[in-house]
Amino acid sequence: MGGLSCGLTLPLLGALLLGAARQPGGAEAYILGLPPTLNITIEIKPGLLPLPANPCYLLTTGKRTSKLLIKPGDRMELLFSCHNPEAHFVIEVKRYIDCTANPCPLGEFQLRPLIAMLPPLNRTFTWDAHAGKSASLELGFRLRLRQIGHGDSCPDRVTYTVSGNIGATEVRIGTFCSNGTVSRIKMQESVKVTLQLPWFDNRPSSGFSMASRSSIKRLCFIESVFEGEGSATLMSANYPGNFPEDELMTWQFVIPPHLRASVSFLQFNNSNCEKKEERVEYYIPGSTTNPEVFKLADKQPGNMAGNFNLSLQGCDQDAQNPGTFRLKFQVLVQSPQNESNVTYEVDLSNERAMFVTIEPRPVRLGRRFVPGCFVCLESRTCSTNLTLAPGARHRISFLCDDLARLWVNVEKTISCTDHHYCHRRSYSLQVPSTILQLPVQLHDFSWKLLVPKDRLGLALVPAQKLQQHTQERFCNASFSYLVASAGAGPGQDLYFGSFCAGGAIEQIQVKQNVVVTLRTFAPSFQRELSGQTLTVTLIPHFKEEGIFTVTPDMKSKVYLMTPHRERGLPPLASVSWNISVPSDQVAYLTFLRERTDLVCQTGRAFMITQDQRTKAEQVVSLEDVLPKSSPHHHNFWVNISNCSPVSGKQLDLLFQVSLTWRTLNMTAILIAVVGGGALLLLALGLIICLVKKNRKKKMNKGPAVGIYNGNINTQIPMQPKKFPNAQKDNDAHVYAVIDDTMVYGHLLQDSNGSFVQPEVDTYRPFQGPTDDCPPSFLIPYSKVPTVKLTTEESSPGFPPETDSEPYTFSHPSKRNGNDANTDVPLLDAHEPAETGE
Ligand SMILES: *[C@@H]1O[C@H](CO)[C@@H](O)[C@H](O)[C@H]1NC(C)=O
Ligand SMILES: *[C@@H]1O[C@H](CO)[C@@H](O)[C@H](O)[C@H]1NC(C)=O
Ligand SMILES: *[C@@H]1O[C@H](CO)[C@@H](O)[C@H](O)[C@H]1NC(C)=O
Ligand SMILES: *[C@@H]1O[C@H](CO)[C@@H](O)[C@H](O)[C@H]1NC(C)=O
Ligand SMILES: *[C@@H]1O[C@H](CO)[C@@H](O)[C@H](O)[C@H]1NC(C)=O
Ligand SMILES: *[C@@H]1O[C@H](CO)[C@@H](O)[C@H](O)[C@H]1NC(C)=O
Ligand SMILES: *[C@@H]1O[C@H](CO)[C@@H](O)[C@H](O)[C@H]1NC(C)=O
Ligand SMILES: *[C@@H]1O[C@H](CO)[C@@H](O)[C@H](O)[C@H]1NC(C)=O
Ligand SMILES: *[C@@H]1O[C@H](CO)[C@@H](O)[C@H](O)[C@H]1NC(C)=O
Ligand SMILES: *[C@@H]1O[C@H](CO)[C@@H](O)[C@H](O)[C@H]1NC(C)=O
Ligand SMILES: *[C@@H]1O[C@H](CO)[C@@H](O)[C@H](O)[C@H]1NC(C)=O
Repeated sequence: MGGLSCGLTLPLLGALLLGAARQPGGAEAYILGLPPTLNITIEIKPGLLPLPANPCYLLTTGKRTSKLLIKPGDRMELLFSCHNPEAHFVIEVKRYIDCTANPCPLGEFQLRPLIAMLPPLNRTFTWDAHAGKSASLELGFRLRLRQIGHGDSCPDRVTYTVSGNIGATEVRIGTFCSNGTVSRIKMQESVKVTLQLPWFDNRPSSGFSMASRSSIKRLCFIESVFEGEGSATLMSANYPGNFPEDELMTWQFVIPPHLRASVSFLQFNNSNCEKKEERVEYYIPGSTTNPEVFKLADKQPGNMAGNFNLSLQGCDQDAQNPGTFRLKFQVLVQSPQNESNVTYEVDLSNERAMFVTIEPRPVRLGRRFVPGCFVCLESRTCSTNLTLAPGARHRISFLCDDLARLWVNVEKTISCTDHHYCHRRSYSLQVPSTILQLPVQLHDFSWKLLVPKDRLGLALVPAQKLQQHTQERFCNASFSYLVASAGAGPGQDLYFGSFCAGGAIEQIQVKQNVVVTLRTFAPSFQRELSGQTLTVTLIPHFKEEGIFTVTPDMKSKVYLMTPHRERGLPPLASVSWNISVPSDQVAYLTFLRERTDLVCQTGRAFMITQDQRTKAEQVVSLEDVLPKSSPHHHNFWVNISNCSPVSGKQLDLLFQVSLTWRTLNMTAILIAVVGGGALLLLALGLIICLVKKNRKKKMNKGPAVGIYNGNINTQIPMQPKKFPNAQKDNDAHVYAVIDDTMVYGHLLQDSNGSFVQPEVDTYRPFQGPTDDCPPSFLIPYSKVPTVKLTTEESSPGFPPETDSEPYTFSHPSKRNGNDANTDVPLLDAHEPAETGE
């Protein structure tokens, strides 16, 4: 039906070449023409639905037809025989874009003016772009997209479909509606974008732009940007069909710093793999085991903070029976669920040299997923490892599913340069409350005590006596003090050992710079710590590496160990123990091994025990069999001096002090004397002689101290041996304290305490150089537009898109308000009129 009244409208339309004329009240006449220079086709054809009862025809040049194809350079007049052609016909506009020969058009594709001239039919615009084998094409969607299942429809009936090619096979990437999270899609080599609009939708712009990029080395890359809480459902290519064989597809998620993302697989199937394994791989900020590899059947990661990647990797499928590899998954972004959003203030404003580091506890490496765990400064910059510097108040918060995954390490330097001023000064080594209030457990608090060399030493005095951690008597308190001093040179730190409450050590004097580390093992340390502070006093210099003051009691045996047990006492070093013995008791000094492994290269290693009252001395060579248990009736010294041992034959000694009542022992001695003690008396006399004779030489650490014969049995055979004589130096004794031994000495080497600035994880937009598209690209179809159409003209002067890293999407810096300028007309609808009549 419907007449044609062209008289008036035709000339105008003719001049425009392309356009439509609407007849008021009747059928409408349209003139559609295409310039020959652009590879665009327009096709009008029946819709997929069965034609309604009342047929409708397409009339062109007076003939009835059901299909019409307009090619570049064509011009056609047409009208419909019915009033509702949208119920019968659809229109398809296809543009082929070759970015291999020419640069890709930049900016957003425009639909206007063409769209206003099309007959009101359901319209499909297709952009078929090719970039060449070693390039990719990036689509940017202004209104982010939401992926929908195959066959689903969008509420506004506006649908985007993206597909690509592997060889000659088309791969469907997905179908999308507006208002989602997908902001960019990168496709290797070529991409086809289809935009379907209902017949009444005359939107001016396609809503997306295209740019060519360097190779992405995978099928495609999809970027999903979350601006707040929300979720996105995404699917593998070809879903619900088979994901292309042996392909890789990556999704990148941009998550606001204060939120967390969790991935769950809604549906998946594995194919029958011949080679390789189908899997997903994650790049998760803060993970130590990136890429995190998962099977599809595994529980997927949750509670991730920060931007992350997910890649789907296919396998070589069995050609006979490939099966179906597919995945549909959901990313849920929400506020941290079970976690305080509390801000803690760490006040270091009164500190001058105290650095607080909050860092992840080391975890056993494994394939197990570890969600992100962050410390945030001022709630803004979050990092996995944060060091707070002295002289300021810091406000921190945590983004972490489990704060037990973090710990705090503190290093405080107390240094003295003027020995006149510092002499006899004391410092209490206390953990400030600003550290104890944190919800993260304190691991180590290290005090680095620096004193002028050869001027002052240090005395460490605990509030309660300490015990030394040994294999024979464990420290199982909630905390220990680890003591290490600076040795003669770099790498020669001396580890004195680990000490906890409940022993006999009253004081530890150390010759030089020392690091005292409070190491905690259980949260209950806070309670126990209050009664067990350590005071350090600067005292006059002395020769020994260390002097221990030990006051045993009868309740338990005291085990003592030479410093640096693991590596042996350093060459020529000496250590002393001042062991007190109550007047009514007698102390027995017993070695737990029969002999040392020591072999001296130069000098001699010896032990002198000296009765502090009688000054009687006993000297024992340590290169040989160790003496048996010896009794001491008064306070006595145990002084040990090392030689220069041959390597691997170090000096390490473990001895034990126990007390018994003196009366008992007197009886024992009496019995011994009566029972044939003449020989013994003789022996004793001999010992005293020997000792006296050699006293003068003994302090000489250098060569000739070789007179003492360790084989002489200087012992009164008093008690049966209480200890197995072959105490093997069992290396298997493992206890956290000992394992970490030498790690503290290094603190001393670097005296300025320089800390590397904590890494700050920020999202950096990329702004590298442009790759494929020369910036000065003049859009061919914008040159001489006709009068009415000039309004849609594109400006050639848009900023080039940038691309610095082939595998990620670029985030151009916020546009400077020239959005409109970056738009590109879809079709060169406004091609100059001269091609027409
Ligand atoms: C035009 O597009 C078709 C596909 O629609 C393509 O085969 C042809 O090579 C293109 N021609 C030019 C000159 O780009
Ligand atoms: C046009 O699209 C609408 C929905 O988008 C549909 O209901 C209608 O059948 C379509 N028309 C044709 C001819 O396909
Ligand atoms: C997208 O959001 C805009 C603004 O909120 C709304 O007008 C439009 O209808 C939405 N479209 C879809 C498909 O949800
Ligand atoms: C895919 O996996 C689902 C379970 O996730 C199963 O029910 C379904 O049968 C599988 N489909 C195919 C084609 O293997
Ligand atoms: C995504 O993966 C690429 C490697 O494929 C990596 O370079 C990039 O840093 C990852 N991005 C994020 C946010 O993890
Ligand atoms: C977090 O969850 C644990 C148990 O899963 C609960 O004991 C704890 O109180 C929760 N913390 C917060 C801040 O809700
Ligand atoms: C912290 O939590 C409270 C209560 O749960 C909430 O009102 C507040 O907005 C949260 N603050 C932040 C910064 O998320
Ligand atoms: C060590 O543990 C044992 C047994 O678990 C206990 O009897 C003893 O009191 C603990 N010692 C300390 C110092 O906590
Ligand atoms: C040895 O220890 C005792 C007991 O603690 C003490 O009285 C004495 O002064 C100490 N001797 C030296 C030289 O430090
Ligand atoms: C043992 O060492 C202490 C402390 O250095 C010292 O006072 C004492 O004289 C030494 N005794 C002998 C016999 O060397
Ligand atoms: C945290 O940073 C500090 C200082 O830069 C560094 O010493 C420490 O090794 C880091 N910890 C971790 C777990 O990376």
